[in-house]
Amino acid sequence: MYPMGSVFEDKSVFSETYVPRELRVRAKEADMLFKIYFNKLFSSAGLSDIAVIYGSLGRVGIGKTTIAKYVAEKLVEASRREGVRVKVAYVNVYTGPSLYSILSMIVRNAELGVTVRGSPVIDILKAIVDTLYINNTYLLVILDEFQSMLTSPKVEADDLYALLRVHEEMPSKDGVARIGFLLVASDVRALSYMRETIPQVESQVSFKLHLPAYRSYELLEILRQRAELGLKPGSWNDEILEMISETYGEDKGGDGSARRAIMALRMAAEMAEAEGRQFIGADLVRKALAEQEASSIPVSEIKSLGLHELLILRAIADAAVEGMDYITTGELRRRYELLCETLQVKARGYTQFHTYIRQLNSMGLIEARISGKGMRGRTTLIRLAPPIPADRLREVVNEAIMQAARH
Ligand SMILES: Nc1ncnc2c1ncn2[C@@H]1O[C@H](COP(=O)(O)OP(=O)(O)O)[C@@H](O)[C@H]1O
Ligand SMILES: [Mg+2]
Repeated sequence: MYPMGSVFEDKSVFSETYVPRELRVRAKEADMLFKIYFNKLFSSAGLSDIAVIYGSLGRVGIGKTTIAKYVAEKLVEASRREGVRVKVAYVNVYTGPSLYSILSMIVRNAELGVTVRGSPVIDILKAIVDTLYINNTYLLVILDEFQSMLTSPKVEADDLYALLRVHEEMPSKDGVARIGFLLVASDVRALSYMRETIPQVESQVSFKLHLPAYRSYELLEILRQRAELGLKPGSWNDEILEMISETYGEDKGGDGSARRAIMALRMAAEMAEAEGRQFIGADLVRKALAEQEASSIPVSEIKSLGLHELLILRAIADAAVEGMDYITTGELRRRYELLCETLQVKARGYTQFHTYIRQLNSMGLIEARISGKGMRGRTTLIRLAPPIPADRLREVVNEAIMQAARH
C-alpha cells in the first residue's frame, strides 16, 4: 500500500492533521473533558455544555486541536456503544467568519442535511435544532481558534449569543438540549475577552482546560508513539528521539511544540529514506534540527528590545498568525492596548508608539507602507517582514516579553 521505503511504514502518521487513536500524553485531561460531555449526554437536560481548551500564551503545537478532536471522536464512539448518535462539526474560525458561514460549515461538516442557502441565520439555527430533534441526534461543535471570533468585525456579540445560547433562545420541541460546544482558544486572553463581550456565555463555561507547553519527557512519549506507528522497526531508537525531545522540551529551553518535534523526526526520516538508509542516524537528526532552525529569527536582537516594542511586535505577529497581511496602525494600536491590559501595564502614548514602530521597521523586523487610494485618509499599514515565520517569532517574542515583564 505504501511505496517501498527504507524507513517509513506509514507516512500518514506524520501528517499535520493526524490524531492518534490513543493519547499517551494528556490522556487524563482529555478523559476528564470527555466525561463531562458524556455524562451530560445521558442526563435529562441533554448535551448543553460549553467547555474551553486554551493554551499558554504564545505557544503553538501543544495539542489543543488534537485533544479537541480526540475528545469528540471518543464521545462519538462511546455514545454509539450506548445506542446514542452523536455528530461532530469541526470548524476552524481563525478568519473570523460570519455566523452565516459558521452555520453553513457546521451543517456541511456534520452532514446534517439542512438547507442553508440564503436563509436567515435564525432559520438555519432552527432547522438544525429541529433536525437534531427529529433524528434524535446530538451534535458537538468544535470552534477552533475561537479567539478570532471575539475580535472579528463580522461577528457581533448577538451572533455569539444566538449560537452559544441556542438552547435558551431556541429550545428543542422536547426541551432536551442537543448541541454541545467545545471552544479551542490560543490562550487565556480569550477568556477575558469572553468575560467582556459575552459574559452570559462565559459564566456558563463548565470546564476550562489549560494546556501548557510540552516538557521533554512528554515529547519523547509522543515521538515514540509516532515512531512505533509510522516507522519500520529497527529504523529508529530512543536515542535519536531523545535528541529531538531534548531540543524542544519546554524544560530544556525549547518551545515545547509537539508539532516541531514530530516535523523534525519526519524530516530526518525523509533524509534517511532519500539516501536509502535503513536507520535514521544521529547525523540526520542533527541536520533536520538545524534545518528547522534555519527558517530562523534574529533572537538576540529581539531579546534586546524593550517591553513595549516587544508587545507591538507580538501584536503584529498575532495578526500574521491569524492570516492577515497588512494591518492598519489603528488595528495595531488596539491589539497593543489589549496586550498591555492583559499584562497590566500602561500603554505608551501615541508619539512613543509611532517611534517604536519606526524602530522595528528600521531593524527589518516589520514592513510599513502608506496606504494608497481607497482607504479613507492615509494610514500606515504594517506587517511582519515576509521571511520571518510568524508562529516561531511569536514564541521568541513571548519569551522575551515574559523576561522583560519580570524586570
Ligand atoms: N498529546 C499528544 N499526543 C500525540 N500527539 C500530539 C499530542 N499533542 C500534540 N500532538 C501532535 O502535535 C501536533 C500539533 O498539535 P496541535 O493539536 O495541532 O497543536 P495546537 O492546536 O496546540 O497548535 C499534531 O501533529 C498533533 O498530532
Ligand atoms: Mg490548533
